[in-house]
Amino acid sequence: MKIAFVGKGGSGKTTLSALFIRHLAAAGLPVLAVDADINQHLGPALGLTDDRAAALPSLGAHLPEIKEYLRGDNPLIRSAEEMIKTTPPGPGSRLLRIVEENPVYAACARPVALDEGSVRLMATGAFTEEDLGVACYHSKVGAVELLLNHLLDGPDEYLVTDMTAGSDSFASGLFTRFDLTFLVAEPTRKGVSVYRQYKEYAQDFDVHLRVVGNKVQGPDDLDFLCREVGEDLYACFGQSGWVRRLERGDEPPLRELEPPNREVLARLQTAADTAHGLRDPHRYSAQAVRFHLRNAESWGNAKVGADLAGQVDPDYVLGVGQPRTAGV
Ligand SMILES: Nc1ncnc2c1ncn2[C@@H]1O[C@H](COP(=O)(O)OP(=O)(O)OP(=O)(O)O)[C@@H](O)[C@H]1O
Ligand SMILES: [Mg+2]
Repeated sequence: MKIAFVGKGGSGKTTLSALFIRHLAAAGLPVLAVDADINQHLGPALGLTDDRAAALPSLGAHLPEIKEYLRGDNPLIRSAEEMIKTTPPGPGSRLLRIVEENPVYAACARPVALDEGSVRLMATGAFTEEDLGVACYHSKVGAVELLLNHLLDGPDEYLVTDMTAGSDSFASGLFTRFDLTFLVAEPTRKGVSVYRQYKEYAQDFDVHLRVVGNKVQGPDDLDFLCREVGEDLYACFGQSGWVRRLERGDEPPLRELEPPNREVLARLQTAADTAHGLRDPHRYSAQAVRFHLRNAESWGNAKVGADLAGQVDPDYVLGVGQPRTAGV
């Protein structure tokens, strides 16, 4: 399943996505971790040294190869140049599976060994000075949108994405590409205002949203979140000495995480597993097409010099009729 962590800057998206990833990996489950934040912090949060994190390949830089691979021999996509971030898969397209080897992972993913288990990590690449003022950030996360639209994932395997802060994610259709979105909220007015903003935008797109309180210190914090968030509040992660140790540069093993916080991670997994069962492949593909047509019309057709509506096969539904096993 496809899971995102979103929320206000500094709320704990990276901390909770890294912990969730470690929790899943410790259970021996396959996980593809994706750092889609402008500030690339997921690698270090998973224990990579700064040097190794900085050496991670960037999805943005490999976009042409990624497109060439995914397009496969789909006759509706005449060249990689004509493929934009929203171009949906169709007959002949190559799909990605979470557990497989493929040229996209070979170029862009790196294994990360954890204290229990290991995962594959991909990163959009840092947002550099050169990107300012241009749509490059969006082309970087565009690579993630493309991957998600071509990912054939099952109920027993996870893609976990650490997203960019606040509502920047709405600049593309990326925020609609997940089975479940965890919105991390601190018990503060700003924390919950980001939640309200996200919810308002997301509800028009049927985004399945759950709020995870973070840095919750006591009953007052809990009351505040319950009052402000109501039934969307799903779990509360406490202010954690274990996370502080991590911040100080210790490498505390996952098994030493405070038991109530470990319990929260298990709850998040339950929510994720439930969300997969609620997935509607037809709606997912229809939404991909909707975003594609919208992007084609607003800039894609002009950029590519072709009518990109022709890339859509209206009968193609991701997850219906394609084999889960690669190369079959
Ligand atoms: N439950 C917690 N207990 C203690 N400290 C925490 C907790 N969650 C997060 N922190 C600390 O809060 C800070 C911000 O956390 P984090 O980097 O995970 O947030 P973020 O939402 O990813 O931020 P950004 O928007 O900058 O990417 C970090 O110093 C982190 O160690
Ligand atoms: Mg972060």
